[in-house]
Amino acid sequence: MNEFINMIRDRRSIRNFSDRPIDKRILEEIVDCARLSPSARNIQHWVFLVVTEKENLSKLSGIVNWGPFIKDATACIVVCGRKDVKRHVEDCCLASENIMLAAKSLGVGSCYVAALKKDIEQARNLLNVSENYEIVCFIPLGYFEKNPEPHDKKRMEEVIRWERF
Ligand SMILES: Cc1cc2nc3c(=O)[nH]c(=O)nc-3n(C[C@H](O)[C@H](O)[C@H](O)COP(=O)(O)O)c2cc1C
Repeated sequence: MNEFINMIRDRRSIRNFSDRPIDKRILEEIVDCARLSPSARNIQHWVFLVVTEKENLSKLSGIVNWGPFIKDATACIVVCGRKDVKRHVEDCCLASENIMLAAKSLGVGSCYVAALKKDIEQARNLLNVSENYEIVCFIPLGYFEKNPEPHDKKRMEEVIRWERF
C-alpha cells in the first residue's frame, strides 16, 4: 500500500500530548488542508479558530464535557460552520478529517471532540464566536510519545456489501 493509506491505518485518537511546541507554520499547514476540503456547493463558510494560549486551552478543557485533555494540548482548532448554510455540519466534519490526517502526516496527534450545546455556548463566550456560527467540534493537537494500540476495528467482511445491502 502507499504511504497515505498506511498513514490512515496508523492514525489513532491522541489524548496524551507532550510539551513540545508546534511551529506556527505547521498549524497553518494543517488549517490549509482544512481550507481545501470539499463543501456543499463550495460555499466554504467555515472558520477554523486556532487556540494556542495556555489559559484558554485550560478554560476550554473545563468547558468541553468530553475533552478534559484539551488542557494538555499545544493547540486546539475550534471548527465553526455558518448556521444558515445547509449541510454546514457535514462540511465541517469533512474538514475535520482533513485536519486530523494532515496533522498525522506531520507527526502531530489529534482527537475529534464533540461539542455539546452547553459547551458551544460557553466556548462561544470565551472565544467571541459569532452567533451566526455553530461550533461543530474541537480538535486538540500536540506531539505525542506513543501511538496508542489499535482499537478493535470491525473486519472488512462485516462492513462491506456489494451491489445490494
Ligand atoms: C463524531 C465523533 C465524536 C467524538 N467525540 C469524542 C469526544 O467527545 N471525546 C473524545 O475523547 N473522543 C471523541 N471521539 C473520538 C473517538 O472516541 C475515536 O475516534 C474512537 O474511539 C476510535 O478511536 P481511533 O480514533 O483511535 O481510531 C469522537 C469521534 C467521532 C467520530
